[in-house]
Amino acid sequence: MKKIVAVNASPRANMNTGTLIREAAKGAESEGAEVQVFDLYRLDKVHGCMSCFACKLKPNEGKCVFRDGLEPVLEAIRNADGLVIGTPNYLGDVSAGFHALYERLIFQSLTYQKEPRRYEIQRIPVLFVMTSNCPEEYYPELGYGKMLKTYQKALDEAVGNTKVLIAGDTLQVKDYSRYNWTMFDAASKRERHEKVFPEEQKKAFRLGAQMVIKPW
Ligand SMILES: Cc1cc2nc3c(=O)[nH]c(=O)nc-3n(C[C@H](O)[C@H](O)[C@H](O)COP(=O)(O)O)c2cc1C
Repeated sequence: MKKIVAVNASPRANMNTGTLIREAAKGAESEGAEVQVFDLYRLDKVHGCMSCFACKLKPNEGKCVFRDGLEPVLEAIRNADGLVIGTPNYLGDVSAGFHALYERLIFQSLTYQKEPRRYEIQRIPVLFVMTSNCPEEYYPELGYGKMLKTYQKALDEAVGNTKVLIAGDTLQVKDYSRYNWTMFDAASKRERHEKVFPEEQKKAFRLGAQMVIKPW
């Protein structure tokens, strides 16, 4: 049975990012995979890379061994046949939780040798999900496209071929009337959430299924 790891790096388990991650998980399950879902912000203390360099020492080469809430996540990814990972866009970048995992996932794979540059790994398909307030069509002019490419390339190299799924113009809060947010039109946010977001959920489901039956 294939094992898929799905990681939600939004502090909110069941809002935009968490919903898409769970849809991709359901898609993978629909094709018989066993899926382990992690909500990064619900784990015990999580740290970024501690710069201990233990991942470059003989017994651990290629493996982050720092013990905290991320240890079981890294271990599960190591034994997985696919990875789904999603983050909200925070200030034009990924969330702090995502970055903590990213530092440890990517850095452990670097040998610091001229050749080979990376420890040998079993490459697995990755689905990288980003949700944002900003609609997807503004990504190029805001530099978000370039930012995403950087993460995609690093995941490509350290984990496996990475597909990106963007869900923009998300519903940030359930009730806009409680806030004095003159930037947004609550009705069109709601409309989009009801019309477009379900399509994005279907996309996530399909990609989760594809990850199992036709890995990229
Ligand atoms: C701290 C913070 C920073 C944010 N920065 C941005 C941003 O720079 N660009 C953007 O498009 N959306 C930004 N957003 C909006 C979120 O990316 C968006 O609402 C996302 O879908 C939230 O994901 P969630 O529903 O899974 O929590 C920000 C939200 C927060 C809380």
